[in-house]
Amino acid sequence: MTEKKRVVITGATGLIGKKLVTELGARGYQVVSLSRDPAQAKRILPENAECVGWTTNSEDAWAAALEGALGVVNLAGAPLMGARWSASYKATIRQSRVLSTQALVKALASRAAKPQVLISGSAVGYYGPSTTPALDEEAVGGTDFLSEVCQAWEKEAFQAEALGIRVVCLRTGVVLDRAEGALPKMALPFKLGCGGPILPGTQWLSWIHIDDMIGLISWALEDERVRGPLNATAPAPLTNREFMANLGQAMGRPAWLPVPGLGLRLALGEAADLLSTGQQVFPKKAQRLGYEFKYSNVAAALRHLI
Ligand SMILES: NC(=O)c1ccc[n+]([C@@H]2O[C@H](COP(=O)([O-])OP(=O)(O)OC[C@H]3O[C@@H](n4cnc5c(N)ncnc54)[C@H](OP(=O)(O)O)[C@@H]3O)[C@@H](O)[C@H]2O)c1
Repeated sequence: MTEKKRVVITGATGLIGKKLVTELGARGYQVVSLSRDPAQAKRILPENAECVGWTTNSEDAWAAALEGALGVVNLAGAPLMGARWSASYKATIRQSRVLSTQALVKALASRAAKPQVLISGSAVGYYGPSTTPALDEEAVGGTDFLSEVCQAWEKEAFQAEALGIRVVCLRTGVVLDRAEGALPKMALPFKLGCGGPILPGTQWLSWIHIDDMIGLISWALEDERVRGPLNATAPAPLTNREFMANLGQAMGRPAWLPVPGLGLRLALGEAADLLSTGQQVFPKKAQRLGYEFKYSNVAAALRHLI
């Protein structure tokens, strides 16, 4: 019997990871989840996923899981909206991404049979808050906190190229999913009858349907032409005002009550900038290499999800 191709995933218990584990299982891969809490991961993930504990401080059993794997998908990171952005939470946001990627690449270096590909997280926040139209993968990085985190995160991942590993960094937009992440939070005010744009409303919102997020990762895993930064966004970014109008329409509720940026900042601190600023990002590389988006139109994506 031939051994199944193995894919090792960090952050597999998260929004993207859970769906990816299911998809890769269906494609015939053996999936290994590296989790801070493998017992919990075992409860969350499908039965056929192997769950191994990992920590960035030491390479125990988890490093052995990388030996001879086809690929590694690195999605671990503390949630951006997990707490108010105190200095210590900002350090958690940064370290949970940069130090885990560093530990992963160090472990990859010590493997005799190295995986062929490392697909690692990043975000459209790489480009910083921007009014520049149509940013593609060649655009320069920003200078705010999140851009700096994304740049440091990608820098660690790209170290694996020196090991002969193909590296892809996913500059992910807002992932739209029915049950988790940004969409249920954005939909709540509409359910309560007080939905509307987040002011100024002209800020860009680059989004991606969860099915395309999983589609892009699976494609990048299998297609050797995909390497370097990859914008993981639908080819139709829109302004916050347009997005909220579409959301209201999908829910059959009006988008009438604008949310003032100042109020958000008082409530959420610096994290409010995630909502009141944005960037118009296009998936130029994915389209050039022929990835076909299932959802390029926000109205269709929202109709499917709501
Ligand atoms: N969802 C989006 O809209 C979006 C947009 C842009 C970028 N991204 C990035 O894509 C990646 C995956 O996104 P997601 O939405 O699936 O994330 P998620 O649901 O928040 O899950 C991330 C996973 O990271 C691990 N994790 C959480 N806190 C951690 C910490 N302090 N240190 C180390 N690991 C920690 C957890 O796995 P264990 O508990 O099993 O260890 C968790 O399941 C993230 O890095 C995120 O920044 C997501």
